This record gives sequence, structure tokens and C-alpha cells, in this order.
Amino acid sequence: MKNLEDLQKEISKDLDKLDIQELKKKYLAQDGLIRKAFSEISNVSKEDKAEYGKELNNLKNEIEKKISSYDSSPVTETKRIDPTAPFDTNTDPDKRPRVLDLDGSSHLLMKELRILTDIFLSMGFDIVESRQIDDDYHMFESLNFPKGHPARDMYDTFWTEDGLILPAHTSTMQNRILSSTEPPIRTVIPGRCFRNESTDSGHEHTFFQCEGVYVDKGISISNMIATIKEFLETYLETKLKVKIQPAYFPFTEPDAEFTISCPFCNQKGCSTCGYTGWIELMGCGMIHPNVLKFAGINPEIYSGFAWGFGLDRLAMIRNNIPEIRELRAGNIKFLRKY
Ligand code: DAH
Repeated sequence: MKNLEDLQKEISKDLDKLDIQELKKKYLAQDGLIRKAFSEISNVSKEDKAEYGKELNNLKNEIEKKISSYDSSPVTETKRIDPTAPFDTNTDPDKRPRVLDLDGSSHLLMKELRILTDIFLSMGFDIVESRQIDDDYHMFESLNFPKGHPARDMYDTFWTEDGLILPAHTSTMQNRILSSTEPPIRTVIPGRCFRNESTDSGHEHTFFQCEGVYVDKGISISNMIATIKEFLETYLETKLKVKIQPAYFPFTEPDAEFTISCPFCNQKGCSTCGYTGWIELMGCGMIHPNVLKFAGINPEIYSGFAWGFGLDRLAMIRNNIPEIRELRAGNIKFLRKY
């Protein structure tokens, strides 16, 4: 009975101090204190047994009542999570946001980004992250889109009230990389991009792109094809047939759309490749002489290639995900699966 009194004191303190999860864990779980106290009933003297059982039941009811009052209270009254607060997994395992696994976990896109940047690092590229707010010069002018150029309309760009932009592609970084590095230049630039798009299963307003630039003496389009093919075969872990087809970008000459044989159907035709056997994966081309000049590189001496692909798109192909919006929907089932 003495133990029961101590337990009662502890509970009355905890009812105001602990949240539901903590109360459940401490008192009602398999190894919780209430169960433990019940299992000790065999050690209680015969005459006290009934009283002990009754008291214990009362304590249990008190805790359950507190828990059900929490369950039915409005959302605004529940404890808020501060996702920026540091937590110590050793001492504080239950205080973390519950979307995280016990070890913490990365989002699928971040895992893919790590795989992909490791491949480029092993191929001798540097990695630089792009900016999330930029200006007209880097989005357009330095990429050979003069003011009023009709190709500006290819990009549904978000502008801020004071004339800055949310980058619609990672090519915004080309001028910065080219003007701050001496050739040979081999840089991969992943980053978040934004477009004022209507969304569907293949389009999002926010997505990741990954830009690549390669500049040196004597670089040709066959170096470009070999580099991109090598990367894609390593990333998708399969041999691919590739072809380039004509495209148009003001910042490349010639410009191309890099296309791979469909890794799902071996070119027999399936819904992923739209029954064509081919998947268009990215824009690419030889860097336009004007873009090199804007960055202070002499196009008579140096040449180079560049590409830009959507990371979401590639991650979807590698993981067989049909719906791009799932990547940012915050659906716990989806997040747990990947
Ligand atoms: N920035 C282009 C886009 O988002 C893709 C692209 C095409 C990037 C050709 C390049 C390139 O670097 O050379 O549509």
C-alpha cells in the first residue's frame, strides 16, 4: 500500500506535466508502472488485496480520463512541435516530430541527390548549389536572352515586386561558374527551381534541376554525349541506347534534347515512354559563344557543353513513381515507403 501511495503522488504530478504519449508510455504500456503494480498484487497481504486492486483501478481510470480529454480537445490546445528545436535521440526519443523514423530519415529527393552527386564527383566534377532568388541578368541576359527576346516566354517565371526572380532553371548559375573559374571547368549545379505552371502528374511549380557545365580546349558534342550517357547508365544501373534530337535554347549552339531508350519496356512501348520506346530526359548543347564571352572566356580558344535535367523526373524513373506531386504532398505513407 505504501508503494501505491508513492505511485499516486507521482501520477498527480505527471498528469499536469506529461503529454499523452509520455503518460501512455510511462503508465499504460506493457512495461508501464500501472501494469507493473498490477503484477505485484500477489505480494499484497490477503486483507489488503481488494483495496489495493480498487485503488489501482482508480489510478488507471484517472490517467485514461486525462488521456481521453486530450484526445477530444481542439487541435489548437495540443502541444506544438518546434521542428527547429535540437533534440537528443538518446535522452529524448519521444519528443521528436513523429514523421521521423527513430534514426531520422532523408526525403527521397535528397537521397537521390546524394547518389547523383556522388556519381558526378567520381567523374571529376565539382558540385555547387544554385540560388533560390536571382535576377534578370542571371536568368536571362547572361544566357543570351536579350530584353524582349521571345524565348523568355518559354519560362513562366515568378517575379518579386522589386524585380527579382525565383529561378525557373539552374542555368542561372552558368555565368557565375564560368566567370569565376579558369578552364578546365567541370561543375554540376543542383538546385530548386520554380515555374508558374499548372500542375499535373508530370509538372510541378517547384522542382529540382541539375545543371552541368564542362569547358576546356577542344571539347566537342561527342564528349557531351559520352559524359551524359555515362552518368545516366551509372545512375539508372542499366545500359542505354541514346540519341539527341533538335531543340532550341538561346544559350546553346547547337542545342539538343537528350533521349534514352525506355529502361522499363526495352523499347517495346509502355505508358512511361508514351509507347514510343524513347524518353526525353534533358536539354543540352554546346555552350553558345556569346555565353562564354559574357563570362570572359574566349570562344576562339575554349568550347564546352552544358545540360539541365529535372531531378524529380529522373528520381521518378529510377523509383518507378508515376505522380510528381507525391514528392511534395507530405503523405506519410509515401514518405515512409521511400
Ligand atoms: N535550362 C533549360 C531548361 O530548363 C535546360 C537546359 C538546356 C540546360 C540546355 C542547359 C542546356 O544547360 O545547355 O529548360
